[in-house]
Amino acid sequence: MEKSEYVLGTYGRAPIQMDRGEGSYLYDTTGKRYVDFCAGIATCCLGHCHPVVVEALEKQARRLIHCSNLYGVPGQEELAELIVRKVVGIDGRVFFCNSGAEANDGIIKVARRFGHRRPAADGSPRYEVLTFLKSFHGRTLGSMAATGQKKIQVEFDPLLVGFRYVDFNDKDALRAALRKETCGILLEAVQGEGGVNPVDADFLREVAALCREHDLLLMLDEVQCGFARCGAMMGWQAVCPDVRPDLISCAKGIGGGFPMGCFWVSNRAINPEGTPLSSIMGPGSHGSTFGGTPLACAVSKAVVSEMLRLNLAARAKKLGERVKQVVEGWQLPCVEKVRGLGLLRGVALRPDCFTLPQGKTPAAYVNDLCREAGLLTCPAGADTLRLIPALNIPEDVLDEGLSILHGVLSQLSCK
Ligand SMILES: Cc1ncc(COP(=O)(O)O)c(C=O)c1O
Repeated sequence: MEKSEYVLGTYGRAPIQMDRGEGSYLYDTTGKRYVDFCAGIATCCLGHCHPVVVEALEKQARRLIHCSNLYGVPGQEELAELIVRKVVGIDGRVFFCNSGAEANDGIIKVARRFGHRRPAADGSPRYEVLTFLKSFHGRTLGSMAATGQKKIQVEFDPLLVGFRYVDFNDKDALRAALRKETCGILLEAVQGEGGVNPVDADFLREVAALCREHDLLLMLDEVQCGFARCGAMMGWQAVCPDVRPDLISCAKGIGGGFPMGCFWVSNRAINPEGTPLSSIMGPGSHGSTFGGTPLACAVSKAVVSEMLRLNLAARAKKLGERVKQVVEGWQLPCVEKVRGLGLLRGVALRPDCFTLPQGKTPAAYVNDLCREAGLLTCPAGADTLRLIPALNIPEDVLDEGLSILHGVLSQLSCK
C-alpha cells in the first residue's frame, strides 16, 4: 500500500489495505486471507458483514437514515429499553452517542453536574474523578485527561482539570487518594488497551463501598469489555454482579461495527427527596447531532438482539477459557501467562525473551509476525498481545487462528 498523502498520519498502520470481510476472515487487496482475532478492536462482535447486520442496515436505510433528536427517533426507545433491561439490568436511562470517547465525556459531564447538586461540606462543587494507571478512556480532551497513561497526553497539555490516577487494584492507594473535591471513580472491569488487566472482585467491591460511604458515583467504562465480550452482558457482571454502578459508558460491540455509543445513567435517588440521578441531565444539558440515528439504532438493536438470542456472553466465556488453556498448555518460554476474561484475552509475553527490531515492543513485533502469517491480533501495552475475536467465531476458525499463533510463538528464538 502507498503511504498516504492526504490522510493525517495519526495511526502507525500496517502496510496492507483491507478489501472485504466475511465472518471471522478479512481479505486484503492482494487477496490474502487473515483469521481475524482483532475484530475491529473488539468491535465487530458478530464478525464481518453478518447477515443480521446487513439486513438491518439495508432495511432501515431505505426508510429513514437520519432525522435529528429534535423529534422522536424511530428505534431509540426500544433499543434503550433493551439496554436497560437486558444488558445493564438496573433501572436507568440511556443517552446515545457515536463512540467510546464521547460516551466517557458524557459520564464525566454527569459526574460534574452531580458534584454541583451534591457539593462538598463547605458548599463548593465537587468535580474530581479518580481513574487508574494503565486505563484508557479515549482521545477527546475529556476522555484523554481521564486516561491514566502519559503517552496518550504528550504535548496536549494543559489537560482538562479534575482527574487523578491511582494504582489499579490497590485499595489503600484508592482510599488515600479521596479528597473533598472527588465526586466519582471511573474504571474498566478489564483494562483493555493498558494490557488486559482484570479488576479484582474484592477491589471492585471496595470501590462500590467507598462510593456509598463518600457519596461518589461509581462509573464504569464498558466500551471494550461490555456487550458480552467478557462472558456476561457487561464486564463488571463477569467479575462481581452484585455491584451496582451509577454510570456506564459503552461503544464498540454495541454496534457490531457500525459507529454507535451510549451511556447509561442510573435512576437511583441521589438525595433524601428521592431525585433520580438520571433526572439531573434534563433538556439542554447534553446532545449530539448523530447520537442514536434511526440507522444506528436499527443496526444496534439487531446486533444486541442477536447477541442475546445466541447467548454470546456464555459462548465468550467458554471460548475464552479454551484460549487460555490452549495457549498456556503450549508451555512456550516466551509466554508468561494468559490474562483477561471471556474473549478479551491478553497473552503476556516475556520481554527478556526477544531480540527485537529497532523501535519495536515485544507485542508490536509478535503482532507483525502474526499478521504476516495470516492472523490479525492487537497489541495491548508493550508486552501483551491481545486476542479479541468476534464472539460468534466458529470453533474451527478459532483453532485455525490459535494454530497460526502457535507457529509464530514457537519459532521465536528465545534468549
Ligand atoms: C475502554 C475504552 N474506553 C474508551 C475507548 C475509546 O473509544 P472510541 O475509540 O470509540 O472513542 C476505548 C477504545 O479503545 C476503550 O478501549
